[in-house]
Amino acid sequence: MTLDIEQLQTELDGKNPRVILKKAFELFDNIAISFSGAEDVVLIDMALAIRKDLQVFSLDTGRLHPETYRFIEKVRKNYQIDIELLTPNRDLLDGFVKSKGLFSFYEDGHQECCGIRKVEPLKRKLTHVDAWITGQRKDQSQDTRQAVPEIQIDTAFSTDNHQLVKFNPLLNWSSAQVWDYIEAYQVPYNDLHEKGFISIGCEPCTRTVLPNQHERVGRWWWESGAKKECGLHAGNLNK
Ligand code: ADX
Ligand code: SF4
Repeated sequence: MTLDIEQLQTELDGKNPRVILKKAFELFDNIAISFSGAEDVVLIDMALAIRKDLQVFSLDTGRLHPETYRFIEKVRKNYQIDIELLTPNRDLLDGFVKSKGLFSFYEDGHQECCGIRKVEPLKRKLTHVDAWITGQRKDQSQDTRQAVPEIQIDTAFSTDNHQLVKFNPLLNWSSAQVWDYIEAYQVPYNDLHEKGFISIGCEPCTRTVLPNQHERVGRWWWESGAKKECGLHAGNLNK
């Protein structure tokens, strides 16, 4: 299928999540939602009103909080959907942990660990779909997410033989809008949000933030000043 991405982007520019999701499902059958186990659950809630046979996956890094594992299970049961948990390549992970231990990211940065625990499994998954849907929002990062479009060719994961399209339906929603939706429609949420967490990733790399600090400050906090993307959304760093 040849798509005019520029034309579609003009059509979807500034639109609300439901419109973007509807278009995504209209264009693609083989399309998957990438669910982090946090407030991006609203994507699943909305998508189910459009299409019942959703493909949903989470990257099980092995380092998620216990609350996040419980939440993923809660979502699975609540919506009666399958959630595919993608685990890292065993050989790569075994070699990495053997040589560098469990907390090397505090010393030499998160890229290597994220590369093995998140990016490699994601890459494997994305070769089997034509498009994916993420919960990225502009308000999650002043540094890297302001120029993200509603629909894009995923330059980080497309190959010569396989063009991959990426949709970001929550892009134009603020955190407040997401939480209004969660409250209004009684959507289940991760218990960590009740313990002061806003942006949630892996346990060793996520912490709570102070009042008025930006949510992203609580991710990979020891790498202050860096453009904080872990590789899932590597295309954002080229903007
Ligand atoms: S991250 O790249 O910094 O970790 P972030 O936590 O902001 O990403 O989440 C943005 C979107 O990336 C999520 O809504 C989700 O689509 C995807 N994502 C992040 N972490 C995961 C994960 N562990 N499994 C699946 N998708 C994820
Ligand atoms: Fe590893 Fe931290 Fe990246 Fe998780 S967020 S994959 S623990 S570096």
